[in-house]
Amino acid sequence: MSSPQRYNALKGVQDILPPDIYLWQKVESAARKIFASYGFHEIKAPIIESTALFTRSIGETTDIVEKEMYTFPDKAGRSITLRPEGTAPVVRAYVEHHLHTLPPPQKFFYSGPMFRYERPQKGRFRQFYQIGVEAFGVASAELDGEIISMLRVLLENLGLRELNFEVNSIGCEECRPSYRNSLQDFFSARLDDLCPDCTRRYESNPLRILDCKVERCIETRKGAPKVTDFLCGECRDHFEGVRSILRLLNISHVVNPNMVRGLDYYTRTTFEVTTEHLGSQKAVAAGGRYDRLVEEFGGPSTPAIGFAIGMERLTALLKETGVTEVPSPQVFVASIGKRATQEGLLLAERFRAKGLWVEVGYEGSLRSQLRRADKLASHYVFIMGDDELLSGKMQWKDLRDGSQGEVEITQAEEFVSSRLIR
Ligand code: HAM
Repeated sequence: MSSPQRYNALKGVQDILPPDIYLWQKVESAARKIFASYGFHEIKAPIIESTALFTRSIGETTDIVEKEMYTFPDKAGRSITLRPEGTAPVVRAYVEHHLHTLPPPQKFFYSGPMFRYERPQKGRFRQFYQIGVEAFGVASAELDGEIISMLRVLLENLGLRELNFEVNSIGCEECRPSYRNSLQDFFSARLDDLCPDCTRRYESNPLRILDCKVERCIETRKGAPKVTDFLCGECRDHFEGVRSILRLLNISHVVNPNMVRGLDYYTRTTFEVTTEHLGSQKAVAAGGRYDRLVEEFGGPSTPAIGFAIGMERLTALLKETGVTEVPSPQVFVASIGKRATQEGLLLAERFRAKGLWVEVGYEGSLRSQLRRADKLASHYVFIMGDDELLSGKMQWKDLRDGSQGEVEITQAEEFVSSRLIR
């Protein structure tokens, strides 16, 4: 054998281990339940797509496309990209499978890894997980309000209350050009104060300057025209509509006219849920409307809206606020002696057939087995030994309330079912 070699996970990626994984599962199962109550169906799209899908939708001059995509040629020389986000693949699937022929709205959710070659830091990873939703076919503000409400219901269900809901409207093809011109006018006298990236963005995509994280650009853009002052009548009405639904649903929110989002496909409503508890990576979830994207991908004109939650940030926030999830065995079967251990194994199998989580002692003294049962926070312990095999009865103990007693071995499943299975 050649000499051993240790390997570590790559920079910016991480293993999600127990017990953290239980917090992830808690989020996923709450999301599944709540999304189902709003009529969302799960969709699984591939992790790899053709590069053009992302450059076209996210935008050539965004940070994601310019700097962050994991792009490589496959063996046949096609340019492939590991998905940096989930919306473009879902829109591709929607068009590819003619889902627009089904009655609107069509509503989907997904969860899985995304990949962005960003500088890793707290809350920012190169492989990160999103749970996202996308709804197609309804343009009215009611859907925007309902989607934001669904996000709030999920976050509150998980125990999170002190979150900021920030909303904005970035207009449509009608009103965006005049806003873009006005931004260029504003920055034309300040070009020397912008970072080199933003000097380029000035020509190609001046809205992106509002998104830049460089300190001098943040300073320079103070006093820049606000997109909300440039909305056309229809976009203004739509945005007012969204806000009135949010008020109806009692969702307190602030308008953040600088929130242009890091992806170019958005139209009208954009929103982010932010927190003060996670340092600089404040956005826990974000989304918006993208009423032109289905058409850009060759489908019929179809309004759409969605959001994605960052799982690492959400679970970090849950931990920060004291929410934990550590499941424990319902039953622990301790045993002394070979025959009793084998009987214990059989008993454990019968308990498990009832759907219970059962641990067994395997080996070691009774004392050490009981210590393990306690450490695992097991609910019930059963003790099996030679005497028990002879008498047909065994001892049980409820480690939560300290009660104990004896039960016929043949009655054990019934005993456990009546106490543990509701
Ligand atoms: P996004 O703002 O790029 O939007 O990402 C959504 C969320 O994913 C962020 O708010 C954040 O919580 C998380 N996230 C993004 N990048 C990272 C990273 N490098 N490390 C950890 N977490 C990250 C989208 O992706 C859109 N597809 C959302 C959407 C769905 N819009 C409409 N439908």
